[in-house]
Amino acid sequence: MIAVVGLGFVGLTTALGLAKQTGRLVYAYDSNDSLREQLCRGEVPFHEPELGAALLELLGSGLIIGETLEAAVRHADIVFYCVGTPSRPDGGANLDALTAAIVETLPLLKEGGRRTLVIKSTVPPMTTTGVVKPLLESSGHIVGDTVGLAHNPEFLREGRAWQDFIHPDRIVIGACDKLSEEQLKRLYEPFGAPMQGVSPATAEFAKLASNALLATMISFSNELAELAEVTPEIDIPQAFRLLHADGRWQGGGMAGYVYPGCGFGGYCLPKDALSLQHYSREIGRESALIGEVLAVNARAKLAFAKRVAAAAGSHGRLAVLGLAFKPGSDDVRGTPAADIIAHLLELGLTDIVAYDPLAMPRFREAYDFPIRYAGTLREALDGRDSAALVTAWPEFSCQQELLERVKVIDGRYGLGKREAARV
Ligand SMILES: NC(=O)c1ccc[n+]([C@@H]2O[C@H](COP(=O)([O-])OP(=O)(O)OC[C@H]3O[C@@H](n4cnc5c(N)ncnc54)[C@H](O)[C@@H]3O)[C@@H](O)[C@H]2O)c1
Repeated sequence: MIAVVGLGFVGLTTALGLAKQTGRLVYAYDSNDSLREQLCRGEVPFHEPELGAALLELLGSGLIIGETLEAAVRHADIVFYCVGTPSRPDGGANLDALTAAIVETLPLLKEGGRRTLVIKSTVPPMTTTGVVKPLLESSGHIVGDTVGLAHNPEFLREGRAWQDFIHPDRIVIGACDKLSEEQLKRLYEPFGAPMQGVSPATAEFAKLASNALLATMISFSNELAELAEVTPEIDIPQAFRLLHADGRWQGGGMAGYVYPGCGFGGYCLPKDALSLQHYSREIGRESALIGEVLAVNARAKLAFAKRVAAAAGSHGRLAVLGLAFKPGSDDVRGTPAADIIAHLLELGLTDIVAYDPLAMPRFREAYDFPIRYAGTLREALDGRDSAALVTAWPEFSCQQELLERVKVIDGRYGLGKREAARV
């Protein structure tokens, strides 16, 4: 049996994906009682295409949502940890949830056979061997002998989590011991994807590098747009479409990250770029580039808010369109919309109505802004002078006739002229 600990975006997708593709029984556990209850009712608490259908298909057959960590670990030979690793105030990754889950596991490893513990959460280099391994050793375990240990980073994108998990372009196995590597390679065989066995630190670094690269491409685009904006004859969307026409960008969707906007957000890109920057500082090689990627990102949100404030006027009646960190998702963790609304309020705009096709309930719960919310795009624009377009939802580009009635400040450069951004 496989156990999965932590049932957020990554954990639930991992639990269902492994049950589906390997045919093995997966026992999944989350410390959040109400989340477990919701999942037991067959409800996925966030928007993620295909995950709901997979849950209904596998619940009770391939997937068991367990009441305790103990029950999960007792019967499993492989335990995946998919708990959150948010940023600490100093930018480093907060590993409290991960270490707490491992510490909780320790006494359970005494009974039964050898288990392999697999860290799927995104962590800084040397966490598996420098933090988790010593924890296991402190309770008398010998890694590679009495217990297996590996880091297996996850590269799925929110909004496409199921397809990305079921059809990964690479599976990275950073095992501390040969037996764990072989066990994981066998487990992942049915996925038919290229597998790479590397050191745990390489796997940890590769994941952070992947997100830092995406963040860099976005900040590169935003910095270029800053330059281009002062030259009115440059058509910014056209210029970027010319970049995308380079055949080397075709396929795979990478070009979607080489496009300006009003800053990147979400749970992963900002925190992983911060984590890499913190790591670079810790090892005495501070990355100026990653620092600048983050600075450009902060600047992009403020510059957009200033553009909106200038266009709307301080007494302007403004609609903010889009609250999710990207279209196709209802995730509002680290969403640029929150920073932009905060800037707008600071800049004196007080009459703000916000609208998002999916993310409004989560946004209202997560952020306490003195703004109003509208039920539809039409309602959001009713009586408004201007609209700030923050998330490139297709719903907005499909209803351009509504938008034409107000002054639109387009934070996504070229509404309706390109496919919805993936970032
Ligand atoms: N969200 C993404 O797109 C994505 C993609 C790749 C990797 N990651 C990484 O995967 C990890 C998880 O991300 P997420 O978005 O799924 O986070 P999440 O916050 O959605 O889910 C984490 C879950 O872990 C649970 N949890 C915390 N401590 C626990 C414990 N001791 N025992 C059991 N459950 C516990 C929480 O209740 C929560 O439901 C992070 O390290 C993240 O960086 C995320």
